[in-house]
Amino acid sequence: MNNTKKLLGKMTIEEKAALLEGVDSWNTNAIPRIGIPKLFLTDGPHGLRKVRTANGGFSVADNEHSTAFPTSATVASSWAPDLAFRMGEAIAEECLTEEVDVLLAPGVNIKRSPLCGRNFEYYSEDPLVSGIFGSAFVRGVQSKGVGVSVKHFAANSNENYRFIGDSVVDERALREIYLRAFESVVKETKPYTVMCSYNRLNGTFASQNKLLLDTILRDEWGYDGVVMTDWGATCDRVEGVLAGCDLDMPGGVWHNRKSVIEAAKSGRLPMDKLDQAAGRMLKLIDRCTAKRPKGGYDAEKHARLSCEIAQESAVLLKNDGTLPLKGSEKLLVIGEMFEKMRYQGAGSSLINPPKVITPQNAFDRRGISYVYAKGYRCFYTERDDGLEQAALEAATHADTILFFGGLSDFEESEGFDREHMRMGDNQTELLRALVKTGKKVVLVLFAGAPVELPSWEGLSALLDMYLPGMYGGEAAAALLYGEATPSGKLTESWPLRVEDSSCYADYNRSSVSRYYESIYVGYRFYDKSGTSLRFPFGYGLSYTSFQYGGLSVSEEGGSIQVSADLTNTGDRDGSEVVQLYVSSNTSNVFKAVKELRAFTKVFVPAGETRTVTLTFKKSDLSYWNVKLRRWVLENGTYDICLAASAADIRLTAPLNVTDAADTASPYSSGVADAYATPPRSIPSCFPELVGFPVTETHSGSREPLTLESRLSEFKRSVVGRILYAAVMNVVQKEYNKALAMPDSLERDTRLKNSHFVVKMMPSNSIRSMCMSSGGKFNYQMAIGFVELANGRLLRGMKAFLNKDRPQPLPADQ
Ligand code: BGC
Repeated sequence: MNNTKKLLGKMTIEEKAALLEGVDSWNTNAIPRIGIPKLFLTDGPHGLRKVRTANGGFSVADNEHSTAFPTSATVASSWAPDLAFRMGEAIAEECLTEEVDVLLAPGVNIKRSPLCGRNFEYYSEDPLVSGIFGSAFVRGVQSKGVGVSVKHFAANSNENYRFIGDSVVDERALREIYLRAFESVVKETKPYTVMCSYNRLNGTFASQNKLLLDTILRDEWGYDGVVMTDWGATCDRVEGVLAGCDLDMPGGVWHNRKSVIEAAKSGRLPMDKLDQAAGRMLKLIDRCTAKRPKGGYDAEKHARLSCEIAQESAVLLKNDGTLPLKGSEKLLVIGEMFEKMRYQGAGSSLINPPKVITPQNAFDRRGISYVYAKGYRCFYTERDDGLEQAALEAATHADTILFFGGLSDFEESEGFDREHMRMGDNQTELLRALVKTGKKVVLVLFAGAPVELPSWEGLSALLDMYLPGMYGGEAAAALLYGEATPSGKLTESWPLRVEDSSCYADYNRSSVSRYYESIYVGYRFYDKSGTSLRFPFGYGLSYTSFQYGGLSVSEEGGSIQVSADLTNTGDRDGSEVVQLYVSSNTSNVFKAVKELRAFTKVFVPAGETRTVTLTFKKSDLSYWNVKLRRWVLENGTYDICLAASAADIRLTAPLNVTDAADTASPYSSGVADAYATPPRSIPSCFPELVGFPVTETHSGSREPLTLESRLSEFKRSVVGRILYAAVMNVVQKEYNKALAMPDSLERDTRLKNSHFVVKMMPSNSIRSMCMSSGGKFNYQMAIGFVELANGRLLRGMKAFLNKDRPQPLPADQ
């Protein structure tokens, strides 16, 4: 397999085309005639999800056992990238055992809105945090000889429109925010593969976006690995290959393979382009199959690692001294999440762990004495009078109430976005009533993203476990009882209400997402607009306290070194996350008030002092100049701020840059004025900012249906309604089957995943359904349905009767 050129010379066009697409949901095509093996690729990112039976493009329900680690949103709250590295190593060991070649992870998309259903799978609203965690994870996985697929490239910020949507983003926001984490992961770790997203970026689908895949990823960043599509993201396959997208997944779409063959024969796809893509696939196969270490792993050790990560990542958001619990409390525990902890998200990242440790298991193992009242039921948001009354009655005998609550997979999941930031009424109303009793109420939260907290003032403490993985209950108990000291901090801002969020005026309004807030994402927006938040970015409490002092700044060879002394002034050992932000005071262009440039997490024993040192490159202070199309470092004065959160700056020192350029602003006065402070609505100069007129790319309700129409739009016609009903019937049946199962971990898993598919399916485009069906819903059928749904019966029938069937390769016969 060493000589790519030689192999390419032996391959027919048909074989090369086959190498560029997947088969059976998770494999690449083998070419047995010349000894090219197949690869197995699967999800990611919070553990290994290997389906037991391949039964379609998504196959989400029936997976081999593996470790369910905390989700990425949780892991990042540890601010300890070495944990992401160790998690990557552990998952890779499981991949080796299950003979998986490429893990479809990590996701390094930026959290644009708190409503994105998939935020639990992403690290942060900040590109530095996302890039550092993404890189650490990739290094961990690849250190064991297993490949990764860094996803979803790029600007995939919502789920509702992911199959058809267009993310319209100005080039500066793209470079500074949405591409930056990808850039650092690609440059620093050389990932085996990159997965492009479903959406369009500035009008062109990511799967055929030459600017993204060729100019930026390969030419500028020097990437030489494979680019694959997300599952069903192909639109025009030949355009895809021309743009630098090598592998079509899950594949099995004859139309795509045939169009590549025909284009190669006609010259539309030059042979060197086909060879480049096939060559990259051969190199990937080589990398994955060369000298792989043996499989086998200690499942309990991995589960304990998941617990350690959960413990390091939980964020203490409020505490009036009630925590840690002493053990002498008259304790009432409320909330079904106590016994049915939510520990992971739904969708393609869903893991099937061999066991979980719920908070109830962990409490019982410790012999903690408590009274338990369910109070509400997970998976539902409606109030239950009986359960509420029983909980309130039990509260009269308690002095401390632990309320286990959060979001369910019905509210937050891959495939659809949240409509609001609230928790279910059944939880918020009961919490309100409990707070009113005047007892101490501690909220222990399980959710992958920020929620509104209506009873906030009355809470004694709030411990946010995020989605803590399979042993999350053990981590929660250890933190609640002070066996461990909380040390996580938020890697996203928590707005008070969704209306305050930075992209509220645009988010999920239509298939065209206008990223009108430009670079003002997350704290960059809230800082500068002066928006009050529930919790700022970087916020988190401890059972101890830290003092910062003795700041010093030095510069050497383009690198800035910042040191300070950190003293643990409390009576408990603990870790502190120190954040380094830099403000630019004299810029020619609009900028955020400050931006995170470095961070570190330091363990300091009680009463002791440690010196912390953080470094960053002076060039990191550059902004992307849209006229010069390059990074520009400006002369001027900057402030270096060491902080405990984005709203808690402890030490500041000036930094003067004098050896850079003096560059004029690339912006017109109209744009500069509109963006001097973050806009709260879409400014009229937005087209000027992005550099082109912005129009809806998706057809309106009067336009004929096309392959790009969503399944739900097909309800407009009789034939469409039949198609819609047929598809929804199949997925609904799975959901009903799960509903009918007896209460168990397996029922919960099946329920949430079939619910994910039921919710996602109507927003799927006919094209993407066809592209992800592995050939079952073939291209001619898709065309046929569109024609029939538009009332063009003859054309529809002709498409259905089309006899164009996949041609096997010689070796397949
Ligand atoms: C998801 C990807 C995932 C793929 C395979 C897609 O729907 O967006 O993240 O890797 O399915 O399961």
